[in-house]
Formats: sequence, structure tokens, C-alpha cells
Amino acid sequence: MTPPKKPPENAAPNDPPTPGFRSGLTNYGDAGFSLFLRKAFIKGAGYSDNALNRPVIGIANTGSSYNPCHGNMPQLIEAVKRGVMLAGGLPMDFPTISIGESFAQPTSMYLRNLMSMDTEEMIRAQPMDAIVLIGGCDKTVPAQLMGAASAGLPSIQLITGSMLTGSHRGEVVGACTDCRRYWGRYRAEEIDTAEIDEVNNRLVASVGTCSVMGTASTMACIAEALGMTVPGGASPPAVTSDRMRIAEATGAQAVQLALSGLSIDKILTAEAFHNAMVVLLAIGGSTNGIVHLAAIAGRMGIALDLAELDRLGRNTPVLVDLKPSGQHYMEHFHAAGGMGTLLRELRPLLKLNALTVTGRSLGEEIERVGAAFKQDVIRPLNNPIYAQGGIAYLQGNLAPGGAIIKQSAASAALMEHEGRAVVFKNLEDLALRIDDLNLDVQAEDVLVLQNIGPLGGPGMPEAGYIPIPKKLALQGVKDMVRISDGRMSGTAFGTIVLHVMPEAALGGPLACVQTGDRIRLSVTRREISLLISDEELARRIAAAPATRPSAKRGYRKLFLQSVTQADQGVDFDFLQAPPPKDTP
Ligand code: FES
Repeated sequence: MTPPKKPPENAAPNDPPTPGFRSGLTNYGDAGFSLFLRKAFIKGAGYSDNALNRPVIGIANTGSSYNPCHGNMPQLIEAVKRGVMLAGGLPMDFPTISIGESFAQPTSMYLRNLMSMDTEEMIRAQPMDAIVLIGGCDKTVPAQLMGAASAGLPSIQLITGSMLTGSHRGEVVGACTDCRRYWGRYRAEEIDTAEIDEVNNRLVASVGTCSVMGTASTMACIAEALGMTVPGGASPPAVTSDRMRIAEATGAQAVQLALSGLSIDKILTAEAFHNAMVVLLAIGGSTNGIVHLAAIAGRMGIALDLAELDRLGRNTPVLVDLKPSGQHYMEHFHAAGGMGTLLRELRPLLKLNALTVTGRSLGEEIERVGAAFKQDVIRPLNNPIYAQGGIAYLQGNLAPGGAIIKQSAASAALMEHEGRAVVFKNLEDLALRIDDLNLDVQAEDVLVLQNIGPLGGPGMPEAGYIPIPKKLALQGVKDMVRISDGRMSGTAFGTIVLHVMPEAALGGPLACVQTGDRIRLSVTRREISLLISDEELARRIAAAPATRPSAKRGYRKLFLQSVTQADQGVDFDFLQAPPPKDTP
């Protein structure tokens, strides 16, 4: 971990309060010349000596035409810069990789670690005393937090904010739970081509991130729960003045972080990750949140314990009534007081001493939240929308390393279910057969999709939301038990078992499932089992030994060599930090 930068010991009284542009000098073998040259070039850009004697605040700019979720980036950067300058700092924005969920192939997750490496190395390479990370779309916030955690500077997260909702024939709609719902209706021939085209115009009403409690909103709430945003930073929609004032406040706070040297390792502690898990459960958050949290924790040398997440879940109810678990949208969550209201309700379950970027503890920030008011989006602890946390951790011979299910978005009737497996070998096999009206499948069967894990995908695509076979969709079937080693979008719903470990491409038992096998899911007992004998399972595993996938060159080679399983965040093994020294 890089220690916080401090003014040099021989600093004169008029020297700037932080190393600023004097840090991280380019290697020319002559430090004086390096600084001389740097000053000449920055003056060439029109900066004065006064500007150069200020704390330097880097601003990670993830604007991209390929990322409409970051479409307000120019306004955000302007507001952050204003905040930095009002507080006496010098803002310096710079570009990094940006990943827009629906524009990245094969899947955005494949690129998250690359973005985290870009973010980390550009923070390390360029002179800055603190960093403002601006992200929003699903993979960008985790990538930035991972990179900043490894770089070790004082860091603060700014969220781009959610999109506005739209309206279709009098019904409120928003990406992307409604995208899936209407697409399901179209597949089932309940609506025609003209109407699905009409819906397509209504789902994304403005720039900003998906308007439900999908992965982007989940990571925004998690970032605030971790203490990495200014208070209230998670929820303002992208196009509101609230969002712009949060951006200005973020810039000002970054200067304070630079002056105090409050580095990210003081914020991202075991207590902070506990709070993030509680919030993840209470918001009915995306299952992707677990993978990203594990990756961020791994950068701090902290192992996220999924069994502990499950234990917390038994005492942490879902309080936030947002789609896909509930009925509202992010703009309603914001109007209901956002994270301030939620954290006040969750107070008894939180580690209140965890430090935040304001320099105050989470408990102190909760004390500063205004008085409660009447609203119906964030429930009190004694009147939850779902009695347990949104996510349950499953184990059994089908998933010796564990698997998860988002129980708050599953069908109650399928939570205890035994059925016949219908197996798809990979995504190509799925695409080939799922719409075949002659497919041998019944509503009570269990759909199994193999080889979409971190290695098999590669990149663990969000294909775990296996579509209902067309034959059954036409009969009105809305949900089935579905199992895979992949992920699903946080905006999706259904009785869907995900992140089965070890994945099929590594020779996990999932690879051995055959059509016709019986599978048992019991969410009550936290069980996912393939109902064959141990001997038969061992025989099948021995008969089809797995070879780790590989590639000849480039990023794909690095990815396949180094990517870890879901419980370690699908991070690269060489980017994880060793456990802190005082860990037993
Ligand atoms: Fe960017 Fe949903 S596609 S947040």
C-alpha cells in the first residue's frame, strides 16, 4: 500500500501544503530538471505558479460515446472542478477506460479488471494528492474502487446517477427490469412488434444508469455504505441539480482528503465491508454486488466470507421497495431520503465506527441525517418487504464451492423444488435450441446452462437469466428454476441459481449434469444438489477431466491465466493483496 503523500520535510513556509506537482517525477536522472520540465509544460497549458502551488486533485474521466450511463460526464467534471477550486485545489481530469454495459463484447465483466489496472496505474503514474473517481455503469464503479484500493491514495467516488423513468401507455417504465419484462411478453407473443418498438423508445428516458436496483444502483449504494462517497452521494438522478451539487461537494471533499492524507486503506476496512454487505442485503441488491465486493475487499487483503453474508442475511430484511424485488425506481428512492433514510433504519446492524471520506464515522454521518418523514419506498426494520436479506448462499454436491440465489426476486413456489435437468452445454447450444418448439422441456424442469463462468464465458457473462423456452413462454410460463456458473443482471428476476463453483470449465460437478438427472433446490436448507450417488458423480468427473482454457496472446491470455472464481471476485490473482499483518 502506498503511504499517503506528505509535504517534504524541508518544505519552506510558503511551499504548497501537499507535494502536488513535485511528486512522482519523471525519471530523467535529474530531479531538478524533471520538475523544471514539468512546470514548463503545464505553464504551456496556461497555468500560473499560483495554480501550481495547490493540492492536485486527479479526476478520472470515464466519459465515452459508448457509455450513455456516463452521458452527464462533462457537467459532472465541471462541477467537481468548481468544488476543487472553491476549496483551494487544482483539478486535473484525465481519461481512463470506460465500459458501457450493452456496448461491450463478449461481456463487460471481461474488461472490468483491465479498467481497474488502467485506473490504478494512471493514479500511480501522474502527480496527484487525491483522486475523484467518476463512475456509474455496472463495472465502472467496482473497477475504479479496485484500482484506487491498490493505488492507495486518498480517494473519493462520485456516481454519475440514475436515469429518469419513462412512461408507456400510462405505465411507469425504466431500464432494465421492464426491458426484460416486455421482451418476455414479446417472446410469448402477448405484444406485437409495433408495441415492442414503442416500448424501446420509452425505457431509457435520459442519460444515467439503470433506474432500478440493478448492479449500477447497487454499487452506488455500496460505495456510500463503504464510506467512499460524500453523504447522499448514491441516489440523486444523473440530470438533477442534486447530482451536480454532490459533484461540487465531492471536489471540495477531495481537497480536504488531500490535505489530511486520509488514504483509502483507512476507509476500506473490515467494518466497511460488513456495512456494505448489510446494505447489499437490505436493498435487495444485485448478485453482482457480491462479486464486486469480493474483488474490492481482495485488493485490501480481506476475504469476503459468503457464509457470513448468508448469516447476516438471516437477520437483515429487505427494506427498499425497488424493482426487481419491489415496485419503485431510483428517483423514488432518492425522494424518500436515499441512503440517509436507509442507514438510519439499519443502524442496529451496522458497524458505526467505520470511517468515511468526510473524516467522520458512519455513525456520526447517520446522526446528521435529517428527521424521518412519511414515504413508502424505504420501509422500517419492523415492516420489511422481505423478511430476510435479498441473497442466500447455497451449497451441495452440485456446488462444492458454493452458489447464490437472489431469493427476494425469486418465485416463492419454486424455492423448494425438485425437477428434471434440461442441460445446455454452452451459450451456442442455448441459442440453437431454446426457441425450438420441439424441445423436450416441461415447466417443472430445471434448466442448466454450463460453461458461462469466469473462464468458460469467458468473463462470466450475464447469461444466467436463461430465457424461458419459447414453447413454455407461449403457454404462459413466467419462471422456472435455472442454474449456471454465470451471473445475471441485477435488473433480472426469477428463481435463478448463479455463480456455481467450481465452474464447469474447471471441471466442477456442474459440467457432469446430464439431461434427465434430478436436481433439488431448497432455499430453506440452503441446498443445491444433483441427485446421483457419490460414486456416479466421481465416475463422471474422472471420465471428463477439464483442461483450463488458454489463449495464445494479449489480454485474453492474461485473463485466462489469472482470473479467479466468483468468491474471489473474478479478479486477477496477481492483483489481490496479501492479508493485513494483524490478520490471524
Ligand atoms: Fe449502464 Fe445499466 S447499462 S447502468
